[in-house]
Amino acid sequence: MSWVKGFKGSAVARGLIPWILLTNIMMVLYSFHNTNQVNIGNSEDDTCPISVAKSLQKSQTVVYQTSRSREECSPKINIMFMKTHKTASSTILNILFRFGEKHKLRFALPDGRNDFFYPAPFLRSQVKDYRPGECFNIVSNHMRFNHQEVATLLPPDAVYVTILRDPADLFESAFHYYHRVIPLTWSIGGENKLVEFLNNPLAFYSSEAFNSFYLKNLQFFDFGFENNLEADDPHVAKSIQYLSNRFHLVLIAEYFEESLILLKDLLCWSMEDILYFKLNMRKSSFVSRLDSEMRRKALLWNWADWKLYQYFNETFWAKVEAYGAERMKKDVKELKKKNIEMKDICIEGRDAVEAQKIQNSRFLPWQPVGEQSILGYNMRREIDPRFRTLCEKMLTPEIQYLSDLGVSLWITRLWGWLKDNIS
Ligand SMILES: *[C@@H]1O[C@H](CO)[C@@H](O)[C@H](O)[C@H]1NC(C)=O
Repeated sequence: MSWVKGFKGSAVARGLIPWILLTNIMMVLYSFHNTNQVNIGNSEDDTCPISVAKSLQKSQTVVYQTSRSREECSPKINIMFMKTHKTASSTILNILFRFGEKHKLRFALPDGRNDFFYPAPFLRSQVKDYRPGECFNIVSNHMRFNHQEVATLLPPDAVYVTILRDPADLFESAFHYYHRVIPLTWSIGGENKLVEFLNNPLAFYSSEAFNSFYLKNLQFFDFGFENNLEADDPHVAKSIQYLSNRFHLVLIAEYFEESLILLKDLLCWSMEDILYFKLNMRKSSFVSRLDSEMRRKALLWNWADWKLYQYFNETFWAKVEAYGAERMKKDVKELKKKNIEMKDICIEGRDAVEAQKIQNSRFLPWQPVGEQSILGYNMRREIDPRFRTLCEKMLTPEIQYLSDLGVSLWITRLWGWLKDNIS
């Protein structure tokens, strides 16, 4: 697994060539496998009829009194969560999986792998067992967003939610996580590839190159937009407006608890529904802190994402204001308290541990190519039986959870095997 250590850049590059070939072979295999693609006309703003969608049984329609005016509401169950990369979105995904399972909702799931054929734009035919006219409740796996296609899968009352993160930190995170699968970075020399790159990005970057989107405006790219825009391109503002019209709530990773409280309020869920353990977290020694100079450069380089983030950071705080600043503080405090209680109940040693220390492979999160940097958890042996199932679900990483939901992950597993065995 430590096959990269001790190799010079060019050797790493040569080492990676078979992988790229294998990835491509797998993609071809996948297209053959995925032959039951359905041919559908381009019917604009089609949604699936609400009468077809699965709804909550009467007995499940709990009435909460959550909003300030003490209105009654019943939980919303039709949700599009646009899962962005490197934004704490795996933790949100776990919350959605748990809620969907609890209420026996229908997920539109990927087939063979854990994403909808990313970075290809989303198509409804990529959904496992898709048949025309069918309705789902929740779409939540990684995709390159394509509103028209998503809308056909969900009832018209579906709530659209996503999450953004500060683009400088996101850039650092994506660079670290993906650099071994981005050939553009292989020739970067020096101690710190990230700093070398940011000091002169144009010396290394090409918008045409394989996987280059991980290096520039990744959030814009995930939303289906062109990511190689000049700073003053009017498409930046237009795209932001487009998203603003489509998404009901944009969460901000830096204010994670506040985000969850707004989500809970919008969806009329309970505090229990949004309990979480941070999943897919990187060991701190693998995080490079950007100094102010590098941060400035990272934001300049990812200018479209920076505009996007600033815009939705503002709308986010306007929502917090509308919710009530004091009320928010109180609710955040309660959520944090409940999460700590859950840690005590569920987690051995109460905290995340390195991958090597995870005893049960069920709880081992997916690791990036060439290193073991993603932390995970050990579940306590002695658990109050009332909490056992909840603990287990809260601790289950994305891949294992998808398996539990019935997704065959042969492409992901094959790739994982190659990742860990080929040098
Ligand atoms: C986000 O909004 C908050 C509240 O207005 C502000 O304090 C913070 O500086 C903003 N962050 C960015 C990156 O603009």
